[in-house]
Amino acid sequence: MLNKKTLKDLNLDGKKVLVRVDFNVPMSSEGEITDDTRIKASLETIKYLVDHNAKVILMSHLGRPKNGPEKKFSLEPVAKKLSELIGKDIKFLYSDKVVDENVKKKWSELQNGEIALLENTRFRSEETKNGEEFSKELASLADLYVNDAFGTSHRAHSSNVGVSKYLESAIGFLVEKEIEVMGNALENPKRPFIAILGGAKVSDKIGVIDNLINKVDGILVGGGMAWTFLKAEGYEVGKSLVENDKLDLAKQLLQKAMEKGVKFFLPIDAIVADEMTEDSPSKVISIKEFTPEDSAFDIGPRTIDVFVEEIEKSKTIVWNGPMGVFEIEQFSKGTFDIAKALSKVDAITIIGGGDSASAIEKSGYKDSVTHVSTGGGASLEFLEGKELPGIAAISDK
Ligand code: 3PG
Ligand code: MG
Repeated sequence: MLNKKTLKDLNLDGKKVLVRVDFNVPMSSEGEITDDTRIKASLETIKYLVDHNAKVILMSHLGRPKNGPEKKFSLEPVAKKLSELIGKDIKFLYSDKVVDENVKKKWSELQNGEIALLENTRFRSEETKNGEEFSKELASLADLYVNDAFGTSHRAHSSNVGVSKYLESAIGFLVEKEIEVMGNALENPKRPFIAILGGAKVSDKIGVIDNLINKVDGILVGGGMAWTFLKAEGYEVGKSLVENDKLDLAKQLLQKAMEKGVKFFLPIDAIVADEMTEDSPSKVISIKEFTPEDSAFDIGPRTIDVFVEEIEKSKTIVWNGPMGVFEIEQFSKGTFDIAKALSKVDAITIIGGGDSASAIEKSGYKDSVTHVSTGGGASLEFLEGKELPGIAAISDK
């Protein structure tokens, strides 16, 4: 399938290996890591490198620092967390410049099987511009380069694409798994194959719908974006979220689905409330009952029944985007009931990262689905059928 070198194609013994991981983890204001999924997801590759006697130097970005180094974006807490998870010392190579003489010196003292972590690559402004000098500085540290940062692979930055120009490279186990599971679903799905799409905006999902319409047997739409589709179909949707400049596009997508024989499901009822708060009075109404004052914040129970019935009939299911405002309990049932149905069905179930990954985590069903992507934007672009620059840059087999 993918013609890229993988970890197993590299001769690692005694080599210095630069590894791009995605340690862009959510942090509390106290600097605590609130979700370590992405760190755990990198362990298989790191352990393999250690077991094969490599010197491992990890690099990642964290957040979006705008003006150089900032303490709240330091990777130091990640070094600690990784050390706990892997049960080994991690040398945190602190430098405002990410790479400097001191970092090079400390790194040159590292022994085979030891692990170091560089400071946030976005502390250097060249990083996001894929600056050549910075790419060279990073590459000069190592003999080989491994990209295991699936979540960053839709970016073309120095630390994931730039460095690949100067070193023999390979993808890590996480990238390999993400591409294999999602790629198989798209190219060779067991049928029926359905996509469940949600999230606030149609505009975020146009590319995904456009690509998936050519592959799936059905599309189920919930979340904020459903109201744009329903309005396009002529329904009164009150004050629900609508992108008025996307109504024509929504009509075109519905038309395209019809022409291709793809079943397109929209909500038939909703939870409406005055405000998007926990204690705002709410009720269930049919989509035929909206007044100009109603705002929808979740799909309703009859919609859930229809969606669950479709899930139970399917053999491959891709889910991207929550069905409602699941962060608020009274609007969370749509999202969590879909998560539950996915956890039970005998099918390949793939959760495309970002908000749906947090939703499945929060629902408690994360371990009962086939795959939860570690990528937000990256998994979206993958599902859109786009080439991911971080992966395209890796050496061919
Ligand atoms: C992500 O969390 O989506 C990735 O780590 C990429 O981060 P970015 O959107 O700031 O480039
Ligand atoms: Mg992002």
